[in-house]
Amino acid sequence: MKHTVLTGDRPTGPLHLGHYFGTLANRVALQGTHPMYVLIADYQVITDRDRPGAIQRNITELMLDYLAVGLDPDQVTIFQHSAIPELNQLLLPFLSLVSVAEIQRNPTVKDEIEHSSQAAVSGLMFTYPVHQAADILFCKGTLVPVGKDQLPHVEITRLIARRFNERYGRVFPEPQALMGDSPLLAGLGGGKMSKSRGNAIALSATADETAALIRKARTDSERRITFDEANRPEVANLLLLAGLCLGRSPESLAEEIGDGGAAALKSVVTEAVNEFLRPIRARRLELDPDEVRKVLLKGNEVARERAVRTLDEVRAAMGF
Ligand code: TRP
Repeated sequence: MKHTVLTGDRPTGPLHLGHYFGTLANRVALQGTHPMYVLIADYQVITDRDRPGAIQRNITELMLDYLAVGLDPDQVTIFQHSAIPELNQLLLPFLSLVSVAEIQRNPTVKDEIEHSSQAAVSGLMFTYPVHQAADILFCKGTLVPVGKDQLPHVEITRLIARRFNERYGRVFPEPQALMGDSPLLAGLGGGKMSKSRGNAIALSATADETAALIRKARTDSERRITFDEANRPEVANLLLLAGLCLGRSPESLAEEIGDGGAAALKSVVTEAVNEFLRPIRARRLELDPDEVRKVLLKGNEVARERAVRTLDEVRAAMGF
């Protein structure tokens, strides 16, 4: 079956290794064999904060990250929410297809509310999984490469597609999630690796910044390094990170480091991460900001055409 791939990121800051192993690697692998849309989810930024912040700068940085990891603008349509009114308009019929209780149960919404800096939960925060369904369905996406934390959103998207089709006739496919090979990479010091939690290694970080972050990472006092996710989560996470960068199992790395302790572990991790990121960082420096801007404008045009067609179909199916 021919898939259409859709995925995206919020432009809230630089992408990090969690994104890379969770989804970016999959995108690069899939481009060219399937039509692919990559969304810069700029409206989603204001789900968990009052203002969009340095939005233009963050969008440019995100574009640079995409192109540096190897997304090819000739194969992939990169676009932004705020340039596609028709995508956003799908939110209206979609909201009518889910109950408040169904949104309330969404574990990712709960987690985001917990970590949000806002005093009250906004209507946009509450409904953003439905907005995300519009992101996926505007182009009739069938495959969504995402990290594990986004699975509940793909579930809601399937539900919305199914209900829309039942009520109005078949318009939408039911998309599936595609997970990266890595289990959810935790941040340095535990919790989800997240730019807003200050525990992430950005793809654009320098080698020195990377070394400093890893130096500060929490470990434990046991000298012998072992891979034990249940009892030694911080050590296990560092081993996992190095293992992903080196294409090796965390167990074999642990064995090799053995009695070297946290210092040896950290030096292995630093070396592995910096080697892994070296070509990505080099490519980033070669990119021309004007060209990058043009890539986004072109992507917006292509995505908008797609959204117009879907919204027309939706209106027709609903009898509007
Ligand atoms: N919610 C995603 C995140 O915070 C970003 C996103 C927005 C997305 N729309 C999407 C991901 C559609 C996949 C599909 O990382």
